[in-house]
Amino acid sequence: MKPAEHVLPRPTLRRLSNHVIDLIAAGEVVERPAAALKELAENALDAGATRLEISLLNGGCDRIEVTDNGCGMTPDDLVMAVERHCTSKLADESLTRIVTLGFRGEALPSIGAIARLGLTSRQHDADTAWMLRLEGGLLTPPVPAPGAPGTRVVVEDLFFATPARRKFLKSARVEGGHAEAVMRRLALSAPHCAMRFTLDERLVFDFPAQTLVERVQAVLGESDSLITLDEERHGLRLTGFVCGPAATRATAASQFLVVNNRPVSDPLLRTAIRVAYRPVIEPGRHPVLALHLQLPHDRVDVNVHPAKTELRFADEADVRGLMIGAIQRALGHGAGEGGVRMRFAAPARQNIQYPVSAPVRPEPGFLSSHETLVGIGASFTGRGCNSPGLLRRSRQFYAGSPSGHPAGCRSAWVFPAGSPGCPDF
Ligand SMILES: Nc1ncnc2c1ncn2[C@@H]1O[C@H](COP(=O)(O)OP(=O)(O)OP(=O)(O)O)[C@@H](O)[C@H]1O
Ligand SMILES: [Mg+2]
Repeated sequence: MKPAEHVLPRPTLRRLSNHVIDLIAAGEVVERPAAALKELAENALDAGATRLEISLLNGGCDRIEVTDNGCGMTPDDLVMAVERHCTSKLADESLTRIVTLGFRGEALPSIGAIARLGLTSRQHDADTAWMLRLEGGLLTPPVPAPGAPGTRVVVEDLFFATPARRKFLKSARVEGGHAEAVMRRLALSAPHCAMRFTLDERLVFDFPAQTLVERVQAVLGESDSLITLDEERHGLRLTGFVCGPAATRATAASQFLVVNNRPVSDPLLRTAIRVAYRPVIEPGRHPVLALHLQLPHDRVDVNVHPAKTELRFADEADVRGLMIGAIQRALGHGAGEGGVRMRFAAPARQNIQYPVSAPVRPEPGFLSSHETLVGIGASFTGRGCNSPGLLRRSRQFYAGSPSGHPAGCRSAWVFPAGSPGCPDF
């Protein structure tokens, strides 16, 4: 046999330096400013913070600052906190009962490997705060510094140490949008914690400590049409709010899923939502909802994805069944019981008008005695409509039978006062 013409040199095995290992870990964990922000805010919540202040410059690419009033750290803690694989959060080595948001001991060293990280921290009974820096992997040991009890983390020049990654950053507006989405998810998962968020000196939100209902209303802004849901089955508990079929969006950005206090974006849960809403919303539209699933910690594995946003459930069928059944029962069409599905009649083209400034309510008499209001729509695709602007300002009420009566669901359009009436579509 002819010998190969180009024989590659035998590859040499070598041990990677800690710095390269940190850069690789950072590649997984810190994809963009929003990911670094998520790690810092999660650390604050894990530290028991009841108040979080967050400010970003240039979408977080230039500066991310997170200040909390949590338990704080000693100077020795600070040094360990930026060391790879050091964590205070794993009580045992089995990884079966993870009750904190973090557990990998990787976020801070990863961020400090690719950016300029400054940590200032003070325990509540300490006389002074201590400050440490880690810039592109170079550590400056802690020195006393002014600072209130709690921790302040500043991340500057994200990816300055990995310029190739910096090139992938999008505009400040896009990166800021991702950061805002991350913070809204965390805000929903921890309503007990006051949160103030500013983006390039613009106040995005300032939530006081709230009940779950108040926080959901503040984040979703759908206070009129929230339907409460609270069901338990086989040790799983699903609570939260769904909006009726008329309050849909073009993307899934208004779907908030929290599992054991962790905001997640899990494919199994997303599919269950799609299935639950399939009978009642147009293909391509996404419902608005905020759901919290609680289950025993040993029935869910959170160690599946470096960003910890995907899960593996021990009882997938139970989770899926509870999600689909509970959402459908909440929507009031009872498809979870006996396969009854709500059918929409074509919207009645009524020309009920309301003053634009007044809260939108259905006309007296819109609901008959066997019906409840199952949804108030504020958005419509406007497909085929000759007046999309007017449709955007319209509302649609959906009336349905609370018992899931097969008679289905009626709806009526409502248009702003003074509008020429129902547009053609
Ligand atoms: N804001 C904070 N307040 C108090 N302690 C903190 C704070 N941030 C970090 N720490 C301490 O630093 C340690 C390391 O944080 P880091 O985020 O790197 O890892 P982790 O949270 O343990 O795990 P993960 O990598 O999954 O986030 C934490 O375990 C915690 O003890
Ligand atoms: Mg962490």
